[in-house]
Amino acid sequence: MQVAFSADEWRTVEQPYYLPSGNEIEVFQAEHRQRLPLMLKGPTGCGKTRLVEHMATRLGVPLITIACHEDITAADLVGRYLLHGGETVWVDGPLTRAVRRGAICYLDEVVEARADTTVAIHPLADHRRELNLERLDETLHAPDNFMLVLSYNPGYQSVLKDLKQSTRERMVGIEFDYPPAEREIRILMQESGIDQVHAVELVTLPHAIRGLDASMLPDVCSTRTLVSTARLLCEGLSSRAAAMAAMLLPLCDDAEVMRGLREVVNTYLPD
Ligand SMILES: Nc1ncnc2c1ncn2[C@@H]1O[C@H](COP(=O)(O)OP(=O)(O)O)[C@@H](O)[C@H]1O
Ligand SMILES: [Mg+2]
Repeated sequence: MQVAFSADEWRTVEQPYYLPSGNEIEVFQAEHRQRLPLMLKGPTGCGKTRLVEHMATRLGVPLITIACHEDITAADLVGRYLLHGGETVWVDGPLTRAVRRGAICYLDEVVEARADTTVAIHPLADHRRELNLERLDETLHAPDNFMLVLSYNPGYQSVLKDLKQSTRERMVGIEFDYPPAEREIRILMQESGIDQVHAVELVTLPHAIRGLDASMLPDVCSTRTLVSTARLLCEGLSSRAAAMAAMLLPLCDDAEVMRGLREVVNTYLPD
């Protein structure tokens, strides 16, 4: 169950399910205790956001998530004066709200944001743990519970859009990959309610596809698409139909590649 606070922040009441592949829970806890900013690095749909949601509840700290995109500027993060009933009033941005409340601020896909956002992020990410509100002539000191978490997918970004070295230098990291097969089976069962026999069967497919020539595909099947496939299966679709709809069609548009993928599906999954 989630209780909404506003469009970009929420507090989870029940602990979201997260199955670790390694020591990421302990590393996250240690980094939070040491008040270090964290960088989560890994392909899309492999559990980065779920880990943050899980840890926020586990640590009892509110979570404010900012889905970054190319139009996000420093003012979007920090806040701005807005016209309200003929008056200009200052409205805190989500980063400022996170600092004031002592929340985990999760900047999802941070490399998508404009370069000027680093001006706000840097002093929060180093020993100062400060947010400079220039327009208010005020500097906020982050409380102990405040934590900055950034995520990005190193495979997607061009070198130019990569995180600046000066930003990276301030962070500690957790590297992600898709969970090993035996974990992905458990995740599928938990997330979709699918039985073990079907989960084992489904998990063979992304592993076969992830082993294919990477240049053929713009992306590989993620744990997220696997969960969607399992959910369709629970709705009564056949394994092949579910895999085509949830895993393969969204993956690519090239007819030749799709023919190859269809063959893989027919080899690994029953009709
Ligand atoms: N380790 C995991 N434990 C539990 N669920 C997971 C895990 N990894 C992936 N998932 C499932 O995959 C989905 C996508 O994961 P998410 O964290 O949103 O990926 P991303 O890495 O893109 O942030 C989740 O909603 C969840 O169903
Ligand atoms: Mg995510």
